[in-house]
Amino acid sequence: MTDLAQDLARAAKHHNLEAGFDVERIRQDFPILSREVHGKPLVYFDSGASAQKPRAVIDAMVEVMENEYTNVHRGAHYLSQTLTDRYEGVRETIARFINAGSENEIVITRNTTEAINLVAATYGRKFLSKGDGVVISDMEHHANIVPWQMLRDEIGIELKIAPIDDRGVLDLDAYGDLLDQNTKLVAMTHCSNVLGTVVPAAEIVRMAHDRGIPVLLDGSQAVVHSKVDVQALDADFYVFTGHKLYGPTAIGVLYGKAELLAQMPPYQGCGDMIATVTYDKTTYAEPPYRFEAGTPPIIEAIGLGAAIDYVSAIGMDAIQTHESALLAYGMERLGEMPDIKLFGTAPEKAAIFSFIQEGIHPFDTAATLDRAGVATRVGQHCAEPLMARLGVDGTVRASLAMYNTTAEIAVMIAALERARALFG
Ligand code: ALA
Repeated sequence: MTDLAQDLARAAKHHNLEAGFDVERIRQDFPILSREVHGKPLVYFDSGASAQKPRAVIDAMVEVMENEYTNVHRGAHYLSQTLTDRYEGVRETIARFINAGSENEIVITRNTTEAINLVAATYGRKFLSKGDGVVISDMEHHANIVPWQMLRDEIGIELKIAPIDDRGVLDLDAYGDLLDQNTKLVAMTHCSNVLGTVVPAAEIVRMAHDRGIPVLLDGSQAVVHSKVDVQALDADFYVFTGHKLYGPTAIGVLYGKAELLAQMPPYQGCGDMIATVTYDKTTYAEPPYRFEAGTPPIIEAIGLGAAIDYVSAIGMDAIQTHESALLAYGMERLGEMPDIKLFGTAPEKAAIFSFIQEGIHPFDTAATLDRAGVATRVGQHCAEPLMARLGVDGTVRASLAMYNTTAEIAVMIAALERARALFG
């Protein structure tokens, strides 16, 4: 047997076909996965940046444009009524998916970035003032750094950084020490987009709540890998984006506890956020509409609803079990390669592998992977401060999803061996 054939045989042993999770069947639902890149079958390991779309999502979006399209919340005609009902039905689907107490706690945004900016600009401006602390972690995406820095520059809040250890595990003691009298908000990733670390979110919330501090969790990566229950977590705000959850781009979600949303001023003006408008005064709608200005992302909402229906039918627990097998196999294989330096070895971790090959520029590694059909992300991953903490300019990141297989990991390993032969 060739090396690759041996690898594939070994991968096959890890391949799990549990009841209800047939990865080969799932792959058939994703049209793009049958294409080739550089003459090789596509191995798509960039789902952390944006996941591929199942046929159900593509069809739902095309179908609404072909047969049902109009604006929502505005017309008295048949199409407007039916599409408004369908659009609002997606809000209920989202609420069920994360177990929100009510669909009125679901604000539709354009992405995670907009959701965090919304909280910073409304809750932040109203409830934070000069000298107040906002705690983030040392493994945040820029989306959960920059909005708070903008608020710091505007009103003088203090940004406090909870450290991580060399495995990428949050230092809970140090985090606890930051929850002092001045701290008024915690805003933290639920799962690092670079390291895959899953933080103990319920514990983080409990520690903050013990001191009366509300918590925003950035669930962009977490919500795609495992079941999220915002009430069990007791999160005050929970944000995520549609396009990493097998849905379309340009739609995201802000969950906020009803009593908090009710106290927050509007974000942008016009559209569904108004109640009445005169030249003298405008009054504002109740949440969630108060935070949704302009014509909303209608087609994208239908697509996100279809994506949530799709993953829910498969089951988030089944997806998590499959991805855990991928994670274990990937860690084992990468761990055996002497020239691979892995970043992110936390015990609680999603199937995201960040690494460099000693002596090889990450862009050369990624280019070699690309020639083998393996799509990864390379660089700083919108997490420049984390790169500084890790002491690197950038990494190669393979971020996996439910449609990936151990055989694909074996293809990546073979390509890494080729990169070593070429550049090492
Ligand atoms: N946030 C996305 C990523 O991690 C774009 O790649």
